[in-house]
Order: sequence, then C-alpha cells, then structure tokens
Amino acid sequence: MTDTRPLLLEVEDLKTYFYLDEGVVRAVDGVSFTIRRGQTVGVVGESGCGKSITARSIMQIVRPPGRIVSGSIRFHRAPPSNGNPGEVIEITKLDPMGKPMRMIRGGEISMVFQEPMTSLSPVHTVGDQIMEAIMLHQSVSKEEARRLAIHMFSKVGMQQPARTVDRYPHQLSGGMRQRAMIAMALSCTPSLLIADEPTTALDVTTEAQILQLMRDLQRELGMAIMFITHNLGVVAQMTEVVMVMYMGRIVETATVDDLFYAPKHPYTRLLLKAIPKLGSKAMGTATRLESIKGTVPHPYAIPRGCPFHPRCGDMIPGVCDAVEPPVVNVSDTQTVRCHLYQSAPSRDVIPLTPQSAAKVEH
Ligand SMILES: Nc1ncnc2c1ncn2[C@@H]1O[C@H](COP(=O)(O)OP(=O)(O)OP(=O)(O)O)[C@@H](O)[C@H]1O
Ligand SMILES: [Mg+2]
Repeated sequence: MTDTRPLLLEVEDLKTYFYLDEGVVRAVDGVSFTIRRGQTVGVVGESGCGKSITARSIMQIVRPPGRIVSGSIRFHRAPPSNGNPGEVIEITKLDPMGKPMRMIRGGEISMVFQEPMTSLSPVHTVGDQIMEAIMLHQSVSKEEARRLAIHMFSKVGMQQPARTVDRYPHQLSGGMRQRAMIAMALSCTPSLLIADEPTTALDVTTEAQILQLMRDLQRELGMAIMFITHNLGVVAQMTEVVMVMYMGRIVETATVDDLFYAPKHPYTRLLLKAIPKLGSKAMGTATRLESIKGTVPHPYAIPRGCPFHPRCGDMIPGVCDAVEPPVVNVSDTQTVRCHLYQSAPSRDVIPLTPQSAAKVEH
C-alpha cells in the first residue's frame, strides 16, 4: 500500500568519507532513502557498515577527517498545505556550526546516542543541560525552562523528577541517564528523532521500559524515528520499514513483514539467521550480528562489483565480482541491490538463472 504521509527527510546519494593517511574510508557511499512524517524507520547491519555516520551526517556532526563529500539531505520543515508549497531545507548546504543548523539540530531533528555519557556533560547537572537545550530553541525564561525540564523528566518516567534534575550524570543509573537523554532529545518536540542503539547498553527490563516509552511518546508527539540497532528483535517491535546496510550502502529496504518473511538480499538472509532470539537481549558482542561467515572487508579496500560478493553463497562469477548491482524495485515497498534480481514489468521477482533461483527460493 502506498504511504501517503508527507515526506520529512529525503536523503539522496549521500557520500561521507574519512580522509586518513592510510587511505579513504568510504563510511557512507551513495545512500538514498526517505522518511515520512510519523514513520519509524529501522537501520540494521553489522558493525562498521555506516549506520552511525549516516545519522551523524543528517545532524551535521561528522568530525574531521570525515566529511560529507556529495549528495543531498532535504529536510521538509513544513509539509505542503492549501496551495502552500511547504518549506524544504538542504541540510548539506548549511554551515554545521551556523545558527540555522543549530536550530534544526536538537530542535527539529534530535539524536539519542548509545552511550549517554558521550553526549551528557559530566560537569553540569542533567537539569541544567536540558534547560540549556530548551532555552536555545524556545524563547522561555529560566524558571519556565526548569518547569518544562521537570515536566519532561516525569514524562520519561524519571522518579522524583524535581529532585533528579539537580543531579549530575554520574549520580544516575544507566537507565536514568538514558531517560535523561531521551527527555533532552524530546524537550523541543522534534519532528525526527534519531535513536542510535539507544538501549544496547541497558539491561533487558530497562530496555523494555525505554522502548515502550519511545513508542508512547511517538504516539503522543507524532514524531518520526530513525531507529539504529543491531537487534532484529527490536526492529520487529519498533519499526515499520527497515534499511539493511552493508559497507556504506543500503542493500535492501523492506517493510518489517517482508524483511522477516520475504527477505531478498543474501546478506539480509544471513543477518536473519544470526538473529538473537526474539525478546532476548543482545548481550555484549556475543549476539551482535557478527556471526556471519567471513569478515567484513577492510573499509579501505571495498571489493569490486557487489561489495558482498566475497562472502556470498549465491555469487555469480563474472557478474557479482565485476559490476556493482543497481537498486532493483522488487515491489512498491521493497528494494534490493543484488544481481539475482531484476525489476520486472509484472513486478514479480525474476531470478537470473534457474540455479540461482533454486538457491535463493529454498
Ligand atoms: N572518526 C573516524 N575516523 C575514521 N574512520 C571512521 C571514523 N568514524 C567512523 N569511521 C569508519 O566509518 C565506517 C562506518 O562507521 P559507523 O560508525 O557509521 O559504523 P556503524 O554501522 O555505526 O557501526 P556500529 O554498529 O559498530 O556502531 C567504519 O568503517 C568506521 O571505521
Ligand atoms: Mg554506530
């Protein structure tokens, strides 16, 4: 079914590279996707595939020697209505430190990181930090900002919010710190929340509470969420559509149902085999999605053709190791970058050869 919700973010052919003495790391290498208002989009893929750098590019917080090399990130600040064309901002054209970008960052697009201590200042109380964020984006007095901070803390389920605002991050538990960061991220009711593995560092009970909290707040505030995770169980609970990344590229985009019941890319299929049991907690590295045969090639040396071909059981010699596959629309809601598929007028999937068909449709 076609999604009619207005567009919120359009990323097109985004490339973000790191220029190191040893060579160029193509962390994000031609990524295109869209997020609609209120939509929850999951991003999955093994460690180092470019999930965080995609997110950091949207926020314009990629640090040197990394930078956005090309591509576009269009943020639809206001949807078109009643003949009004709406307002679209090209984020890549904004100065990362300039006022327009600072107003978007933390105001209209905000981010929750995996480890709160990397984004919370250890020398200020959590209350001061959330008040600063509120006052940067809204013209309110200090007293009003404090009232709003306490309100946000109670909204995210913080115990004794009026007292907790005066605590320092190190005086809070991991779960409370994560709640404080979510409160800060949501204090200006962003239209897009980027959650980069927001629960990986938490125990299973706290993780369940934080996920529930994010779902409730999304329903209430109507924001879109870009949810980055290693945990496909979390994807199943939290997202509507999923992007699978491999070596800086999106190799498959699918609805959650199609991802689990009709995955197309051989890499997606392997990821699903490596899935931690639904409902279980990804503990440390043991159940991170790294149990796939072979290792990710070195980021300086991306293989020719399809970057996944050295690890792929369905590799077609002379094709997969020679030509990079284009994006193929296998249905209105599913795309795949793999030579085993081609767009067909009937929109049915046509595998290239009977042998590869037998392999894929097992
Ligand atoms: N500061 C940096 N300097 C050099 N290379 C970097 C830097 N930050 C990231 N990279 C490289 O960019 C690529 C993508 O990194 P990114 O952090 O986006 O991965 P990820 O998918 O978020 O992984 P993880 O699941 O481990 O968080 C990796 O190859 C990484 O080594
Ligand atoms: Mg990351």
